[in-house]
Amino acid sequence: MFIEKNKSLRNYNTFGIDVTARAFVSVESLEDLRTILKDYTPDEVFILGGGSNMLLTAPIDKLVVHINLKGIEVLSRTEDEVILEIQAGENWHELVMYCIENDFGGIENLSLIPGNTGTAPIQNIGAYGVELEDVFESCTAIECTTGVLRSFSREECKFGYRNSIFKDEAKDQYIITSVMLRLTSKNHKINSSYGAISDVLAKRNIENPTIKDISEAVISIRRSKLPDPAEIGNSGSFFKNPVLSSEEFKKFRSKNPEAPYYEVSATQFKIPAGWLIDQAGFKGKRYGDAGIHKHQALVLVNHGNASGSEIWNLALKIQKKVKEDFGIYIEPEVNVI
Ligand code: EPU
Repeated sequence: MFIEKNKSLRNYNTFGIDVTARAFVSVESLEDLRTILKDYTPDEVFILGGGSNMLLTAPIDKLVVHINLKGIEVLSRTEDEVILEIQAGENWHELVMYCIENDFGGIENLSLIPGNTGTAPIQNIGAYGVELEDVFESCTAIECTTGVLRSFSREECKFGYRNSIFKDEAKDQYIITSVMLRLTSKNHKINSSYGAISDVLAKRNIENPTIKDISEAVISIRRSKLPDPAEIGNSGSFFKNPVLSSEEFKKFRSKNPEAPYYEVSATQFKIPAGWLIDQAGFKGKRYGDAGIHKHQALVLVNHGNASGSEIWNLALKIQKKVKEDFGIYIEPEVNVI
Protein backbone atom coordinates (compact mmCIF):
# COMPACT_ATOMS: atom_id res chain seq x y z
CA MET A 1 0.00 0.00 0.00
CA PHE A 2 1.47 3.29 -1.07
CA ILE A 3 0.20 6.61 0.25
CA GLU A 4 0.70 9.49 -2.18
CA LYS A 5 0.75 13.11 -1.03
CA ASN A 6 -1.04 16.03 -2.75
CA LYS A 7 -2.65 14.01 -5.49
CA SER A 8 -4.89 15.53 -8.16
CA LEU A 9 -8.29 13.80 -8.27
CA ARG A 10 -8.99 14.89 -11.85
CA ASN A 11 -8.83 11.32 -13.18
CA TYR A 12 -10.87 9.95 -10.27
CA ASN A 13 -14.13 11.87 -10.77
CA THR A 14 -16.18 11.72 -13.96
CA PHE A 15 -16.84 15.50 -13.84
CA GLY A 16 -13.06 15.85 -14.38
CA ILE A 17 -12.75 18.46 -11.62
CA ASP A 18 -9.15 19.21 -10.71
CA VAL A 19 -9.01 19.27 -6.91
CA THR A 20 -6.21 17.95 -4.74
CA ALA A 21 -6.37 15.31 -2.05
CA ARG A 22 -4.01 15.83 0.90
CA ALA A 23 -3.19 12.11 0.64
CA PHE A 24 -4.39 9.24 -1.52
CA VAL A 25 -4.28 5.47 -1.31
CA SER A 26 -5.67 2.78 -3.58
CA VAL A 27 -6.89 -0.23 -1.59
CA GLU A 28 -6.79 -3.66 -3.23
CA SER A 29 -7.58 -6.00 -0.34
CA LEU A 30 -9.83 -6.16 2.71
CA GLU A 31 -6.72 -6.45 4.92
CA ASP A 32 -5.38 -3.16 3.57
CA LEU A 33 -8.75 -1.51 4.10
CA ARG A 34 -8.85 -2.78 7.71
CA THR A 35 -5.34 -1.45 8.31
CA ILE A 36 -6.37 2.00 7.07
CA LEU A 37 -9.47 1.98 9.26
CA LYS A 38 -7.33 1.07 12.26
CA ASP A 39 -4.82 3.84 11.61
CA TYR A 40 -7.29 6.63 10.77
CA THR A 41 -10.55 7.77 12.34
CA PRO A 42 -13.63 7.92 10.06
CA ASP A 43 -13.28 11.74 10.04
CA GLU A 44 -9.78 11.51 8.60
CA VAL A 45 -10.70 9.47 5.52
CA PHE A 46 -12.76 10.09 2.41
CA ILE A 47 -14.02 6.99 0.59
CA LEU A 48 -13.93 7.09 -3.20
CA GLY A 49 -15.54 4.58 -5.54
CA GLY A 50 -15.91 5.28 -9.25
CA GLY A 51 -16.28 9.04 -8.66
CA SER A 52 -19.27 9.10 -10.98
CA ASN A 53 -21.86 10.62 -8.69
CA MET A 54 -20.04 13.46 -7.00
CA LEU A 55 -19.18 17.08 -7.54
CA LEU A 56 -15.95 18.12 -5.82
CA THR A 57 -16.12 21.81 -4.91
CA ALA A 58 -13.05 22.06 -2.65
CA PRO A 59 -9.71 20.34 -2.01
CA ILE A 60 -10.00 17.27 0.22
CA ASP A 61 -7.98 17.70 3.38
CA LYS A 62 -8.16 13.98 4.23
CA LEU A 63 -6.77 10.63 3.17
CA VAL A 64 -8.73 9.67 0.05
CA VAL A 65 -9.23 5.89 0.03
CA HIS A 66 -9.86 4.59 -3.46
CA ILE A 67 -11.74 1.27 -3.23
CA ASN A 68 -10.04 -0.92 -5.82
CA LEU A 69 -11.19 -4.41 -4.77
CA LYS A 70 -11.52 -6.65 -7.85
CA GLY A 71 -13.12 -9.95 -8.76
CA ILE A 72 -16.35 -11.54 -9.98
CA GLU A 73 -17.37 -14.97 -8.70
CA VAL A 74 -20.35 -17.27 -9.28
CA LEU A 75 -21.44 -18.03 -5.69
CA SER A 76 -24.24 -20.43 -6.53
CA ARG A 77 -26.16 -21.70 -9.48
CA THR A 78 -29.57 -23.36 -9.86
CA GLU A 79 -31.21 -24.50 -13.07
CA ASP A 80 -32.25 -21.02 -14.12
CA GLU A 81 -30.52 -18.58 -11.75
CA VAL A 82 -27.06 -17.59 -10.61
CA ILE A 83 -25.87 -15.54 -7.69
CA LEU A 84 -22.79 -13.49 -8.44
CA GLU A 85 -20.51 -11.85 -5.92
CA ILE A 86 -18.86 -8.77 -7.39
CA GLN A 87 -16.10 -6.90 -5.58
CA ALA A 88 -16.78 -3.20 -5.04
CA GLY A 89 -14.04 -1.89 -7.34
CA GLU A 90 -15.32 -3.63 -10.47
CA ASN A 91 -16.46 -1.18 -13.12
CA TRP A 92 -20.26 -1.40 -13.48
CA HIS A 93 -20.45 -1.42 -17.28
CA GLU A 94 -17.69 -4.05 -17.54
CA LEU A 95 -19.79 -6.20 -15.20
CA VAL A 96 -22.81 -5.74 -17.48
CA MET A 97 -20.68 -6.82 -20.46
CA TYR A 98 -19.43 -9.89 -18.52
CA CYS A 99 -23.07 -10.82 -17.79
CA ILE A 100 -24.11 -10.45 -21.44
CA GLU A 101 -21.16 -12.65 -22.53
CA ASN A 102 -22.11 -15.32 -19.99
CA ASP A 103 -25.85 -14.98 -20.72
CA PHE A 104 -26.74 -13.83 -17.20
CA GLY A 105 -29.87 -11.68 -17.38
CA GLY A 106 -31.18 -8.81 -15.26
CA ILE A 107 -28.84 -5.84 -15.63
CA GLU A 108 -28.81 -5.37 -19.41
CA ASN A 109 -31.05 -2.27 -19.11
CA LEU A 110 -28.37 -0.76 -16.87
CA SER A 111 -25.70 -0.82 -19.61
CA LEU A 112 -23.22 2.05 -19.82
CA ILE A 113 -23.97 3.56 -16.40
CA PRO A 114 -20.67 5.04 -15.20
CA GLY A 115 -19.22 4.14 -11.82
CA ASN A 116 -18.28 1.06 -9.83
CA THR A 117 -20.34 -1.85 -8.56
CA GLY A 118 -19.73 -1.02 -4.90
CA THR A 119 -21.36 2.37 -5.18
CA ALA A 120 -24.32 1.18 -7.27
CA PRO A 121 -26.45 0.27 -4.19
CA ILE A 122 -25.87 3.64 -2.52
CA GLN A 123 -28.09 5.45 -4.98
CA ASN A 124 -29.93 2.35 -6.26
CA ILE A 125 -28.88 3.04 -9.86
CA GLY A 126 -31.67 2.81 -12.37
CA ALA A 127 -32.46 3.33 -16.03
CA TYR A 128 -34.93 2.27 -18.72
CA GLY A 129 -37.41 0.55 -16.41
CA VAL A 130 -34.94 -1.34 -14.18
CA GLU A 131 -33.37 -0.46 -10.83
CA LEU A 132 -30.53 -2.23 -9.06
CA GLU A 133 -32.92 -3.36 -6.30
CA ASP A 134 -34.71 -5.60 -8.85
CA VAL A 135 -31.69 -7.96 -8.98
CA PHE A 136 -30.00 -7.13 -5.69
CA GLU A 137 -29.55 -10.05 -3.28
CA SER A 138 -27.31 -8.52 -0.59
CA CYS A 139 -24.05 -6.69 -0.06
CA THR A 140 -21.19 -6.91 2.39
CA ALA A 141 -19.95 -3.76 4.03
CA ILE A 142 -17.30 -2.90 6.54
CA GLU A 143 -18.23 -0.67 9.46
CA CYS A 144 -15.82 2.27 9.52
CA THR A 145 -15.56 2.62 13.29
CA THR A 146 -15.04 -1.09 14.12
CA GLY A 147 -13.68 -2.66 10.90
CA VAL A 148 -16.31 -5.40 11.29
CA LEU A 149 -17.73 -6.90 8.09
CA ARG A 150 -21.50 -7.37 7.91
CA SER A 151 -24.14 -8.21 5.37
CA PHE A 152 -27.11 -6.07 4.29
CA SER A 153 -30.13 -7.82 2.75
CA ARG A 154 -32.27 -6.08 0.15
CA GLU A 155 -34.83 -5.14 2.82
CA GLU A 156 -32.12 -3.77 5.11
CA CYS A 157 -30.85 -1.54 2.30
CA LYS A 158 -34.23 0.30 2.26
CA PHE A 159 -34.02 1.08 -1.42
CA GLY A 160 -36.04 3.93 -2.90
CA TYR A 161 -35.83 6.08 -6.01
CA ARG A 162 -32.10 6.93 -6.23
CA ASN A 163 -31.91 6.24 -2.51
CA SER A 164 -30.90 3.67 0.13
CA ILE A 165 -29.93 3.38 3.79
CA PHE A 166 -26.36 4.30 2.71
CA LYS A 167 -27.51 7.78 1.67
CA ASP A 168 -29.69 8.11 4.74
CA GLU A 169 -29.38 6.78 8.30
CA ALA A 170 -26.18 4.78 7.58
CA LYS A 171 -24.53 7.57 5.57
CA ASP A 172 -20.71 7.48 5.81
CA GLN A 173 -20.82 4.65 8.36
CA TYR A 174 -20.06 1.71 6.06
CA ILE A 175 -17.88 0.93 3.07
CA ILE A 176 -19.51 -1.54 0.68
CA THR A 177 -16.92 -4.17 -0.22
CA SER A 178 -18.93 -6.55 -2.44
CA VAL A 179 -22.38 -6.90 -3.98
CA MET A 180 -24.39 -10.09 -4.56
CA LEU A 181 -26.77 -10.10 -7.53
CA ARG A 182 -29.42 -12.70 -8.37
CA LEU A 183 -29.50 -13.06 -12.15
CA THR A 184 -31.27 -15.36 -14.58
CA SER A 185 -29.30 -17.92 -16.58
CA LYS A 186 -32.31 -18.85 -18.73
CA ASN A 187 -35.88 -17.65 -19.31
CA HIS A 188 -34.67 -14.06 -19.01
CA LYS A 189 -37.26 -11.45 -18.08
CA ILE A 190 -36.82 -9.07 -20.97
CA ASN A 191 -37.81 -5.52 -20.09
CA SER A 192 -38.35 -3.59 -23.31
CA SER A 193 -41.39 -1.57 -22.24
CA TYR A 194 -39.53 1.75 -21.99
CA GLY A 195 -40.57 3.75 -25.06
CA ALA A 196 -37.08 4.53 -26.34
CA ILE A 197 -36.06 0.84 -26.16
CA SER A 198 -39.10 -0.41 -28.06
CA ASP A 199 -38.49 2.27 -30.71
CA VAL A 200 -34.90 1.12 -31.28
CA LEU A 201 -35.93 -2.56 -31.40
CA ALA A 202 -38.70 -1.79 -33.92
CA LYS A 203 -36.26 0.16 -36.10
CA ARG A 204 -33.90 -2.83 -35.98
CA ASN A 205 -36.75 -5.25 -36.80
CA ILE A 206 -36.14 -7.22 -33.60
CA GLU A 207 -39.29 -8.93 -32.36
CA ASN A 208 -37.93 -11.28 -29.71
CA PRO A 209 -35.01 -9.42 -28.18
CA THR A 210 -32.20 -11.19 -26.32
CA ILE A 211 -30.46 -9.55 -23.37
CA LYS A 212 -27.71 -8.59 -25.81
CA ASP A 213 -30.25 -6.82 -28.06
CA ILE A 214 -31.57 -4.88 -25.05
CA SER A 215 -28.06 -3.93 -23.96
CA GLU A 216 -27.18 -2.75 -27.47
CA ALA A 217 -30.41 -0.71 -27.70
CA VAL A 218 -29.70 0.95 -24.32
CA ILE A 219 -26.11 1.68 -25.36
CA SER A 220 -27.26 3.37 -28.56
CA ILE A 221 -29.92 5.45 -26.71
CA ARG A 222 -27.46 6.54 -24.04
CA ARG A 223 -24.77 7.39 -26.62
CA SER A 224 -27.23 9.59 -28.52
CA LYS A 225 -28.48 11.48 -25.45
CA LEU A 226 -25.88 11.36 -22.73
CA PRO A 227 -22.32 12.68 -22.93
CA ASP A 228 -19.47 10.17 -22.48
CA PRO A 229 -17.48 11.21 -19.36
CA ALA A 230 -14.28 10.18 -21.20
CA GLU A 231 -14.97 12.99 -23.69
CA ILE A 232 -16.82 15.58 -21.63
CA GLY A 233 -16.93 15.67 -17.84
CA ASN A 234 -20.33 14.94 -16.29
CA SER A 235 -22.09 12.98 -13.59
CA GLY A 236 -25.19 11.79 -15.44
CA SER A 237 -28.45 13.23 -14.12
CA PHE A 238 -27.51 16.10 -11.86
CA PHE A 239 -30.99 16.39 -10.30
CA LYS A 240 -33.61 13.84 -9.26
CA ASN A 241 -36.96 13.91 -10.98
CA PRO A 242 -39.30 15.67 -8.50
CA VAL A 243 -42.32 13.78 -7.17
CA LEU A 244 -45.55 15.77 -6.75
CA SER A 245 -48.63 14.95 -4.66
CA SER A 246 -52.00 14.65 -6.47
CA GLU A 247 -52.89 18.19 -5.48
CA GLU A 248 -49.58 19.70 -6.58
CA PHE A 249 -49.74 17.68 -9.77
CA LYS A 250 -53.27 18.89 -10.61
CA LYS A 251 -52.16 22.50 -10.24
CA PHE A 252 -48.99 21.93 -12.26
CA ARG A 253 -50.82 20.04 -15.00
CA SER A 254 -53.51 22.71 -15.43
CA LYS A 255 -50.76 25.26 -16.16
CA ASN A 256 -48.57 22.85 -18.17
CA PRO A 257 -50.87 20.41 -19.95
CA GLU A 258 -48.09 19.37 -22.36
CA ALA A 259 -45.61 18.31 -19.65
CA PRO A 260 -44.53 14.64 -19.64
CA TYR A 261 -45.02 12.75 -16.36
CA TYR A 262 -44.89 9.26 -14.85
CA GLU A 263 -47.54 8.06 -12.45
CA VAL A 264 -45.59 6.53 -9.54
CA SER A 265 -48.73 5.68 -7.56
CA ALA A 266 -52.30 6.98 -7.36
CA THR A 267 -51.05 9.89 -5.24
CA GLN A 268 -47.53 10.47 -6.59
CA PHE A 269 -46.51 11.90 -9.95
CA LYS A 270 -42.95 12.23 -11.17
CA ILE A 271 -42.09 15.12 -13.49
CA PRO A 272 -38.88 14.88 -15.58
CA ALA A 273 -36.51 17.51 -14.20
CA GLY A 274 -34.87 17.50 -17.67
CA TRP A 275 -38.12 18.82 -19.16
CA LEU A 276 -38.43 21.54 -16.48
CA ILE A 277 -34.82 22.68 -17.03
CA ASP A 278 -35.26 22.55 -20.80
CA GLN A 279 -38.44 24.70 -20.56
CA ALA A 280 -36.63 27.11 -18.24
CA GLY A 281 -34.31 27.77 -21.20
CA PHE A 282 -31.05 26.17 -20.06
CA LYS A 283 -30.55 23.31 -22.51
CA GLY A 284 -27.22 23.59 -24.34
CA LYS A 285 -26.26 26.83 -22.51
CA ARG A 286 -22.68 27.43 -21.46
CA TYR A 287 -21.28 29.74 -18.75
CA GLY A 288 -17.51 29.62 -19.07
CA ASP A 289 -16.62 25.94 -18.93
CA ALA A 290 -19.74 24.97 -16.95
CA GLY A 291 -22.72 24.02 -19.07
CA ILE A 292 -25.91 22.07 -19.68
CA HIS A 293 -25.77 19.21 -22.15
CA LYS A 294 -27.30 19.95 -25.56
CA HIS A 295 -29.30 16.71 -25.79
CA GLN A 296 -30.40 16.22 -22.16
CA ALA A 297 -30.96 19.22 -19.90
CA LEU A 298 -30.71 17.06 -16.76
CA VAL A 299 -26.97 16.63 -17.29
CA LEU A 300 -24.53 19.37 -16.29
CA VAL A 301 -21.18 19.24 -18.04
CA ASN A 302 -17.61 20.41 -17.61
CA HIS A 303 -16.42 21.68 -20.99
CA GLY A 304 -12.79 21.55 -19.85
CA ASN A 305 -11.57 23.44 -16.83
CA ALA A 306 -14.70 24.32 -14.85
CA SER A 307 -14.23 24.29 -11.09
CA GLY A 308 -16.66 22.41 -8.87
CA SER A 309 -17.95 25.74 -7.55
CA GLU A 310 -18.71 26.99 -11.06
CA ILE A 311 -20.77 23.86 -11.75
CA TRP A 312 -22.47 24.16 -8.36
CA ASN A 313 -23.31 27.85 -8.95
CA LEU A 314 -24.87 26.89 -12.27
CA ALA A 315 -26.89 24.17 -10.51
CA LEU A 316 -28.16 26.74 -7.98
CA LYS A 317 -29.11 29.13 -10.78
CA ILE A 318 -31.07 26.36 -12.51
CA GLN A 319 -32.74 25.34 -9.25
CA LYS A 320 -33.84 28.95 -8.62
CA LYS A 321 -35.23 29.50 -12.14
CA VAL A 322 -37.16 26.20 -12.11
CA LYS A 323 -38.64 27.18 -8.73
CA GLU A 324 -39.64 30.62 -10.10
CA ASP A 325 -41.11 29.24 -13.32
CA PHE A 326 -42.91 26.15 -12.00
CA GLY A 327 -42.99 26.43 -8.19
CA ILE A 328 -41.11 23.10 -8.04
CA TYR A 329 -37.93 22.46 -6.04
CA ILE A 330 -35.50 20.15 -7.78
CA GLU A 331 -33.06 18.30 -5.55
CA PRO A 332 -29.53 17.36 -6.66
CA GLU A 333 -28.94 13.67 -7.28
CA VAL A 334 -25.15 13.91 -7.10
CA ASN A 335 -23.26 14.28 -3.83
CA VAL A 336 -21.87 17.78 -3.55
CA ILE A 337 -18.63 17.78 -1.59
N1 EPU B 1 -36.91 15.88 -21.60
C1 EPU B 1 -36.98 17.11 -22.23
N2 EPU B 1 -35.83 17.83 -22.35
C2 EPU B 1 -34.64 17.39 -21.90
C3 EPU B 1 -34.56 16.14 -21.25
C4 EPU B 1 -35.73 15.40 -21.11
O1 EPU B 1 -38.04 17.54 -22.67
O2 EPU B 1 -33.66 18.11 -22.05
C5 EPU B 1 -38.13 15.05 -21.52
C6 EPU B 1 -38.04 13.89 -22.51
O3 EPU B 1 -38.54 14.26 -23.77
C7 EPU B 1 -38.91 12.84 -21.87
C8 EPU B 1 -38.73 13.09 -20.39
O4 EPU B 1 -38.19 14.41 -20.26
O5 EPU B 1 -40.28 13.05 -22.18
C9 EPU B 1 -37.85 12.07 -19.72
O6 EPU B 1 -36.54 12.06 -20.31
P1 EPU B 1 -35.62 10.73 -20.33
O7 EPU B 1 -36.39 9.58 -20.88
O8 EPU B 1 -34.34 11.10 -20.98
O9 EPU B 1 -35.40 10.35 -18.82
P2 EPU B 1 -35.14 11.23 -17.50
O10 EPU B 1 -36.36 11.15 -16.64
O11 EPU B 1 -34.67 12.58 -17.90
C10 EPU B 1 -34.20 9.25 -16.06
C11 EPU B 1 -32.98 8.97 -15.21
C12 EPU B 1 -31.76 8.65 -16.09
C13 EPU B 1 -32.10 7.43 -16.92
C14 EPU B 1 -33.37 7.74 -17.76
C15 EPU B 1 -33.84 6.54 -18.53
C16 EPU B 1 -33.29 10.29 -13.17
C17 EPU B 1 -32.83 11.45 -12.38
N3 EPU B 1 -32.70 10.12 -14.36
O12 EPU B 1 -33.93 10.43 -16.81
O13 EPU B 1 -30.68 8.33 -15.24
O14 EPU B 1 -31.04 7.07 -17.78
O15 EPU B 1 -34.47 8.14 -16.89
O16 EPU B 1 -34.39 5.61 -17.66
O17 EPU B 1 -34.16 9.54 -12.73
C18 EPU B 1 -28.68 9.05 -14.16
O18 EPU B 1 -29.22 8.76 -13.10
O19 EPU B 1 -27.52 9.52 -14.23
C19 EPU B 1 -29.42 8.88 -15.41
C20 EPU B 1 -28.93 9.25 -16.60
